[in-house]
Amino acid sequence: MRAVLMGPPGAGKGTQAKFLAKDAAVPQIATGDILRKAREEGTPLGREAQSYMDRGDLVPDAVVIGLIEQRLSQQDAAQGFLLDGFPRTVPQAGALDRLLEEMSQPLHDVLLIEVPEEAIVHRLSGRRTCPSCGRAYHVETAPPPADGRCGSCGSELVTRPDDRLETVQARLKVYAESTAPLRDYYAARGLLRTVDGVGPVEEVTARLKAALRG
Ligand code: AP5
Repeated sequence: MRAVLMGPPGAGKGTQAKFLAKDAAVPQIATGDILRKAREEGTPLGREAQSYMDRGDLVPDAVVIGLIEQRLSQQDAAQGFLLDGFPRTVPQAGALDRLLEEMSQPLHDVLLIEVPEEAIVHRLSGRRTCPSCGRAYHVETAPPPADGRCGSCGSELVTRPDDRLETVQARLKVYAESTAPLRDYYAARGLLRTVDGVGPVEEVTARLKAALRG
């Protein structure tokens, strides 16, 4: 599998990517998770990304493209990968095309998860996230363990700073302006499949698997 999972903030990309990547035995490469880890560790990358992330803006293309180039060159990505949250702009998609062409590893699939805006606001206002493994919970629909720790790795769950309502609204605006145009970009290449992201998690997983070709 060499695939991209797209969708607005809170569409369920991270939740679904974990299942799809495990099933296909490829790494899930999530730019948001990589940037949050760098921020937590206080690396130069993390310090540069912080202000953009906290206000719901995109981190500059050159930074994330460099990060993806480095990540895709690692051994575990040689047999395939699932990109989650990258590309997010047309220049990022162009850079990915060039990189994969150089590696002779064309993309098989671009899956776009669609979820209406009211559902997104509800999902993000109740999300609790594991800062270590990235697993997402929801206080109503996917409740975390009673001790407030991740059921997968035991780390203390957090509310992401960019899940505040004003920041969610800023992220949705950025998505509409900068990321939604990728729909046409990938449709023109015959790679795009859109999938309804509303419904039980396992039903959405089944729809995504049915839409995969690679
Ligand atoms: P990133 O971490 O990628 O955030 P995002 O795209 O906004 O997506 P989220 O992680 O918020 O949501 P998700 O779709 O993964 O949903 P989840 O599965 O958690 O990026 C964060 C920031 O980093 C960006 O704003 C930007 O600053 C920077 N960045 C990252 N990549 C970049 C790039 N390429 N270029 C530039 N900047 C970049 O689910 C959400 C909630 O819904 C959870 O509570 C979950 O339990 C629940 N849920 C999931 N599925 C369902 C379902 N079927 N029904 C009901 N609830 C559900």
